[in-house]
Amino acid sequence: MKLLVFAGSLRKASLNRKLAKHIARAAEAEGAQITYVDLNDYPLPIYNGDIEDAGMPDNVRKLQSLMKAHDGFLISTPEYNGAVPALVKNTLDWISRQQADGESGGALFKGKVAGLCSASPGALGGLRSLLLLRDQLAKLGMWVAPTQFALGKAHEQFTDSDALKEDHHKAVRGVIQDVLSFRTR
Ligand SMILES: Cc1cc2nc3c(=O)[nH]c(=O)nc-3n(C[C@H](O)[C@H](O)[C@H](O)COP(=O)(O)O)c2cc1C
Repeated sequence: MKLLVFAGSLRKASLNRKLAKHIARAAEAEGAQITYVDLNDYPLPIYNGDIEDAGMPDNVRKLQSLMKAHDGFLISTPEYNGAVPALVKNTLDWISRQQADGESGGALFKGKVAGLCSASPGALGGLRSLLLLRDQLAKLGMWVAPTQFALGKAHEQFTDSDALKEDHHKAVRGVIQDVLSFRTR
């Protein structure tokens, strides 16, 4: 299974980037083919139909091509005010627009699989954002793995070399195994 992995934060010291990188390594160890995407490399304006009408941004086309080449994704997202950050929503909105060949952007999501994680210094680990993201991805036609992982007190959960502490490895593996079991459908 080929999976895109990304974090819903652009911050250099992002806790979700650390978690996303851990997920990427763990998924590879379970046999998935991983492409790690840093959204800093694909800057996009806030969705505006006038920008689209003037010519689709190159980075939308690049992200659509990446989506097309993968069976789904693993996301680690922050929670902003109880919801999914604008970065994540905006990225999904742009990708969902019509593809260069005229095919619907929705086809890039439909029938694919997603595994969700979040990280926050707060006790709930960003859990509320996952509930909304799950709903959003389901509306795009994705199969969202029932197992998810919210890393609370995330600023205390990584070693000095940014490795996730051992205590959480099993929970992360649970999400990945759920996603990988999708291929047996
Ligand atoms: C605008 C804003 C809203 C936030 N709202 C929440 C929230 O609702 N729940 C929460 O757990 N943390 C909240 N936080 C704190 C983030 O969890 C924290 O900044 C986290 O480190 C962001 O993820 P990152 O480290 O991957 O960048 C918020 C942060 C910002 C900037």
